[in-house]
Amino acid sequence: MDMWSAPPRLTNDGAFMADPVPAYSAWRREAAVHRTTTPDGSPVWLVTRYGDVRSALTDSRLSLAKSVSRVGYRGFALPPALDANLLNMDPPDHTRLRRLVSKAFTARKIESMRQQVQHVTDQLLDAVPTDGPVDLIAALAAPLPMIIIGDLLGVPDRDRENFRSWANALLVPNQAGPVTPARAVDHLQDLLSTLIATHRTSPDGTLLSDLVRVRDAGDELSEDELTSLAFLILLAGYETTVHLIGNGIVTLLQHPRELDRLRRDPSLVPLAVEEVMRFAAPNPYAIRRFARQDFAIGGAQIRAGDTVLLLLAAAHRDPDRFTNPDELDITRIDNGHLGFGHGIHYCLGAPLARLQAQTAIGSVLTRFPHLRLAVAVDELQWRASFRSRGLLALAVTTTP
Ligand code: HEM
Repeated sequence: MDMWSAPPRLTNDGAFMADPVPAYSAWRREAAVHRTTTPDGSPVWLVTRYGDVRSALTDSRLSLAKSVSRVGYRGFALPPALDANLLNMDPPDHTRLRRLVSKAFTARKIESMRQQVQHVTDQLLDAVPTDGPVDLIAALAAPLPMIIIGDLLGVPDRDRENFRSWANALLVPNQAGPVTPARAVDHLQDLLSTLIATHRTSPDGTLLSDLVRVRDAGDELSEDELTSLAFLILLAGYETTVHLIGNGIVTLLQHPRELDRLRRDPSLVPLAVEEVMRFAAPNPYAIRRFARQDFAIGGAQIRAGDTVLLLLAAAHRDPDRFTNPDELDITRIDNGHLGFGHGIHYCLGAPLARLQAQTAIGSVLTRFPHLRLAVAVDELQWRASFRSRGLLALAVTTTP
C-alpha cells in the first residue's frame, strides 16, 4: 500500500487533474474495485482494471437508467423532455431509438463533413497571430467542435453566438458568459424545438433534418426524442472533443520524440489520435452504470441500485492489456482503448470526434513547425472536474 491508500479520493481539483495517472494506477494495483464517494458525496464503486471495465460495458445487469439508481442523481437535473436520451436508456427503448438514429448518423454523413471540418480549421488557424503566444483552446479546440455541432443541427447564423454562449454556460466554464446553467438549458431547449420545427417544413441536408425525417417500418422519432437527441449531441460531443484536441496537442508537445515521428510521417495522425484517447483520456470516468441486481464485479459484492464508475484512465494503463502502458506510442496498432465506450452504447459520434481531432492536430503540426508550449508544464491549468480531463487554456508560441 502506498500514499494513495484506499479508498480513492475522487476530487474536482484542477491540480490533481494535472497528473492523475500515478494515483489511478496505484488504485488499479491495489484493487480491481474500490468503494468510495464522488465529490458531491454520492457513494460509488470504482472499477479500475481493463478486463472488468470492458466486460461491464456489455453486462446487461448494469443499467444506464437513472431510475435504477438507489441514491438518485445529485448532479444538474435536466427537464424530462431533454433527459429521454440514449445515455439514460436500456433495451428495448434504447434499441429502437438507436436504430432510428443510426439511420441518419451514418459514417457517410460524417465523411461528407470532412471538407467542412478542414475549412473551419483553416479559417480558425488563419486568424492565429504569428507573433506572441496564442491560446489554442480558445483559438481552435473550443470553436471547432462548437461550429461543427452548430452545422449538424443547422443552427442559423443569427443564433450562433447565443448557441455558443449557452453551450459554454453548461459545458466549458472558462469560455462561459453570464448565463446560468438553468437558463442556458431553457434557452437551448427553445432553440432546438424551433430548429426541429423549421427542419420539418424545410429539410436542408443537415443531420438534424435527416433525423426529423428518419423512418423505420413506420416508426419515427417523437418530438421529445428529437429534442433530447439534439441536446445529447451537444452534451456528449462538444466538451469531449475540445479536450481531445487540447490533450492531443499538449501530450505531443510533452513527447518530442513522438512529435518528431509524427511530423516526419503525418499519415500516422489517425493512430496518434487513438493513442491520445488511451493515454490522455478526456473522459477519465465518463462511463457510469447502475446495478439492476446484486452481483460481483472483480470480487466486490455490488448491490442492486448501486452506482458503478468505470475508471477508463486506469484501465488504459493496465499492463495486463497494454504493452508498456505508460509509454506514448503513436504507432500502437493493437490499441483497444475504451474511450468511446464499447457495446450497444458505443459512441455514435466517434467518427466525427476522430475527424475533428485528426484534422485539428494534423493542421496545427503542418502549419506551425516551431510549435512550443509558452508556459511550463506545471503552470498549465486543468479543468476542475473529476469527470473531464482537459485544459482551460493552452498557451503556445509558433515562431522559432
Ligand atoms: C456515447 C465518448 C464525441 C455522441 C459515448 C460514450 C462514450 C463517448 C464513452 C458511451 C457512454 C456510455 O456507454 O455510458 C466520447 C468522446 C468523444 C465523443 C471521448 C470525443 C472525443 C461525440 C460526438 C458526438 C457524440 C462528437 C455527436 C456529435 C454520442 C452519443 C452517444 C455517445 C449520441 C450515445 C450512444 C448510445 O447511448 O447509444 N460517447 N464521445 N459523442 N456519444 Fe460520444
